Amino acid sequence: MFSEITQEMKERMAFLENIDKNDRTDGTDKLKRLRQIPPETGKFIAILAANCPDGEFVEIGTSAGYSSLWISLVLRERKRKLKTFEILPEKVFLARESFRIANVNDFIELIEGDFLEKYHGIENIAFCFLDCEKHLYEKCFDIVSEKLLPGGLLIADNAINHYESIKPMIDKAEADERFDCSTVSVGKGEFICRRK
Ligand SMILES: C[S@@+](CC[C@H](N)C(=O)[O-])C[C@H]1O[C@@H](n2cnc3c(N)ncnc32)[C@H](O)[C@@H]1O
Repeated sequence: MFSEITQEMKERMAFLENIDKNDRTDGTDKLKRLRQIPPETGKFIAILAANCPDGEFVEIGTSAGYSSLWISLVLRERKRKLKTFEILPEKVFLARESFRIANVNDFIELIEGDFLEKYHGIENIAFCFLDCEKHLYEKCFDIVSEKLLPGGLLIADNAINHYESIKPMIDKAEADERFDCSTVSVGKGEFICRRK
């Protein structure tokens, strides 16, 4: 899958990586920063997504679409569409540009608005990448965990660098016998929660 990334997608990924890198040092306001995952996390979540059961693919927190582009690599094969949620109009605009330039509109549905208000109707989740504001993780987990298929995965970003903020969600998932959980030190730390 990684050897098949198109030139258009490579260029858009490189463009977004460059903005993200500059955002982190040039004092860009937090709401404007892309705050996207690094490439090693993109590869990691794509490999996990390639190995989930058949069902819905969901992402909470699109930003400019960088992580969605990595997940889209799987969807070509799986004949599925990622539903990705983004609350900020400026980010929605950038993500639409990313999906148009990378030619992945057939594999991604971008939903503008708050996931907590717009998730209704999604069932049978095979894969969910959770990467929004950290204080919302537990609420998102409560929704997604009830809809995960057997073998389905919820992956939460920032499990190491924001461990204290997302600990309530991690503790809840680990105490629930329906799930097998693990944190791995890829990128900023990925918390993996698999429905038995
Ligand atoms: C860390 S960034 C996502 C980065 C993206 N996953 C990537 O790696 O390219 C978090 C994004 O979540 C969005 N967000 C925050 N709360 C949200 C909510 N309740 N529903 C949808 N999006 C939300 C923010 O506007 C922001 O763009």
